[in-house]
Amino acid sequence: MPKDDLQVMRDLMDAQRKGFALPRHFYTSQAVYENDISTFWNRNWIWVGHVSQVAELGDYFLFDYGPESIIIVRDREGEVRAHLNVCRHRGSRVCIEQKGKARNFICPYHAWTFDLNGKLRNGRSMGSDFDPGQYGLFPVQVQIFQGLIFVCAAEDAPPLDAALERLAPLSKPFDFENLKVAHEASYPVPANWKLALENYLECYHCAPSHQDYSRSHSLKDPAQVLEFGGALHERMGEVGVPLEELDLTGENALAPGADVYWRRYPLFPGYVTGSKDGAPLAPPLGELKGHDGGATDLGIGTLNYFLVYADHVVGYRFVPRALQETDIQIVWYVRGDAQEGRDYDKDALTWLWHVTSLDDERIIRHNQEGVNSHQFVPGPLSEMEWSIPGFYRNYFSMI
Ligand code: FES
Ligand code: FE
Repeated sequence: MPKDDLQVMRDLMDAQRKGFALPRHFYTSQAVYENDISTFWNRNWIWVGHVSQVAELGDYFLFDYGPESIIIVRDREGEVRAHLNVCRHRGSRVCIEQKGKARNFICPYHAWTFDLNGKLRNGRSMGSDFDPGQYGLFPVQVQIFQGLIFVCAAEDAPPLDAALERLAPLSKPFDFENLKVAHEASYPVPANWKLALENYLECYHCAPSHQDYSRSHSLKDPAQVLEFGGALHERMGEVGVPLEELDLTGENALAPGADVYWRRYPLFPGYVTGSKDGAPLAPPLGELKGHDGGATDLGIGTLNYFLVYADHVVGYRFVPRALQETDIQIVWYVRGDAQEGRDYDKDALTWLWHVTSLDDERIIRHNQEGVNSHQFVPGPLSEMEWSIPGFYRNYFSMI
């Protein structure tokens, strides 16, 4: 009898060569993709938004991945809650609009009505022995870190608290709590989500593939990070950015799915932020006294990544839609009291990561095309791709 796809996957995991990329099966098998959703995405923390998007009672938005849809809402008690967007009657989506303000959620099929906290208030004509208490929306775990909202569909979500406690003092001066969304964009790419995520995790490709990014960011070359790192540290001290780094990833992770990473690196002289001309893009965040000319790579969990400049934060996630369909979703945040037109120009703010994401869409698409070839076998990873094995380790520990 032929081996099923998941058995092939497990055999390949056992045979995985340390320091090599994954075999094509991980990016071409429908069974592996479905397993990725059920055992990895459903059991990891996913950054879905910011508290400013649900500032008032009844404010809600949806976050969708794979076949799943989650409602994130501010309930009547003021709590941010998340529910699976699946009616407990016959399974219809309960909420259709991507965002809005609701008094309750009324299923569009047979009008079962759910409170903002997920409880079923009323099932029409269900008879006297029907107990609505048994049919609330399935709850999804919520964790809020300094205003950033994370959800996890599993009951036993990875324990992130200890790692976030270590991170909190490092990010505090940036006042994430009081950010606001300046812009959101989605870049669909015909590739498996793991190829999109792996591309984000390494800057080996930055020099050949990202001309604009490479003009301002030193990360593409470890020698340049060192060369300009001393001057950056001085300026970090001057403007109030803590000097510590945090690497709770790979073997240092406190638990599977509980990785946290924080490391600031220098932009080139003449650049104080990720702008086209090097000039500031917005007022400094939080308590910062100015622009230090650094950019922090921040990772929270295994699916959520941020780049923290002195005047804005860019968030990235790589959301599976189908086996070889992924949305690269990017959100630009500025300080909450900044006004568009007065304090920042949206086109200027979003320019770098718009052009860089178009580059990434192209290279990830070509990557998937090559991986689909019957002849593809993975080659060795460069030392500049050091963070990819950490992701594999985490991935293997959960699938
Ligand atoms: Fe929602 Fe019937 S499926 S009320
Ligand atoms: Fe890239």
